[in-house]
Amino acid sequence: SEALKTNSLNHLEIGGCDAVELVEKYGTPLYVMDEGLIRKNCRIYKNSMDKYYNGNGMVLYASKAFSAMAIYKIVDSEGLGIDVVSGGELYTAYKAGFPMDKVYFHGNNKTIAEIELAIDKDVRRIVVDNLEELKNIDRIAGEKGKKACISFRIKPGIDAHTHDFVQTGQIDSKFGVALENGEALDIIKFASTLKNVSVVGVHCHIGSQIFDLAPFELAAKVMLEFISQIKNETGIVIEELNLGGGFGIKYIPAHDPIEYDSYIESVSKVVKGICEDKRIKLPFIVMEPGRSIVASAGITLYKVGAVKEIKNVRTYVSVDGGMADNPRYALYQSPYDAVLANRLNAPKENVITIAGKCCESGDILIKDINFPKVTAGDIIAVMATGAYNYSMSSNYNRIPRPPVVLVHEGKSRLIVKGEDYEDIIRNDIIPEDLG
Ligand code: LLP
Repeated sequence: SEALKTNSLNHLEIGGCDAVELVEKYGTPLYVMDEGLIRKNCRIYKNSMDKYYNGNGMVLYASKAFSAMAIYKIVDSEGLGIDVVSGGELYTAYKAGFPMDKVYFHGNNKTIAEIELAIDKDVRRIVVDNLEELKNIDRIAGEKGKKACISFRIKPGIDAHTHDFVQTGQIDSKFGVALENGEALDIIKFASTLKNVSVVGVHCHIGSQIFDLAPFELAAKVMLEFISQIKNETGIVIEELNLGGGFGIKYIPAHDPIEYDSYIESVSKVVKGICEDKRIKLPFIVMEPGRSIVASAGITLYKVGAVKEIKNVRTYVSVDGGMADNPRYALYQSPYDAVLANRLNAPKENVITIAGKCCESGDILIKDINFPKVTAGDIIAVMATGAYNYSMSSNYNRIPRPPVVLVHEGKSRLIVKGEDYEDIIRNDIIPEDLG
């Protein structure tokens, strides 16, 4: 992993900070985010988009991957926009001072209150998922005397999650409108008759943690053919194409993600080629990487408690966090890599399973990893936890959420305070009649 460096004490170093010192200062579990790496990833995307689309494009950070006020500041200073999927993410970005004219609002079931918030704040785009929502947006915008700029989430019929990705007809997904039976065309036609919305774009997102280029190229092709069809059959000109996110990252050595720059270059060729073929104007191109901006920039530090060797079966090493701060193994059996942060060069002498502290057998962080011998008090760093860890954390078992620190050039700053027990009971109410 890029975040992985050793210092003279043989400790893990991240963002110029000694992991053991971070633990002494902030405790465990601890989420650590490397600011330099986040910025580097933002720049790779931004520079490539500028280069291959001559500035006729935009990168959005899909903030569901990691949403906190400080991250919106960083992403803004790198010149990216953002994608938000809830009123909570929108509010967080707003309070961080993020420019609302660079915000895209997604979601398959936006509430009335969320639509109102998005329209009040004048977000750049509301990405419409369904007809019910479209009508609500038109009505609410009308009530507020505004015109909402919208795009449509389309199902391009590509399932990138199968081993060899497949192009099916109707995909079994709760998101968006299908191309089949003119469904997508019909909703766009209908939208063009509404007074309080302005139809700007179409959007697709074919999945997450994808390693192949081909499904992305195919998605671009399908979407541009659709844009051409819309123009031919209705005269409506779609000015913007949002190709979503989904670029895979290296969680473990066996993972082999595509270079983001070469992805953008290849897709831009497909995009330009089809536009020429179909004689349509090159749309403004948007992309929405989430995981690939923050995942590799994060590590989580844990302290080892118990080591339990079950003879001829497995060795469980229990740490002081688990599925409450990283539910991804429990949910998706996602693989992770880890190192012994306080003795980085120790030989990997045994195979261990790193388990969490939740009262649940499925609370595992890493199953069967080659690792040094550890004892209570050792510090384990789980790598590449910057995406979908803090943002998916919970208070299961009433465990307070760990703090998040941002590290850069040897300095560490708290960006999310750790919770304490008072936070845990903050919203609890004992009705009077319970005494
Ligand atoms: N755009 C849209 C419309 C999305 O739905 C998503 C992710 C993204 C962009 C960003 O995708 P990324 O570049 O991060 O792959 N919790 C799961 C991931 C769920 C992703 C949902 N949508 C996980 O931990 O793997």
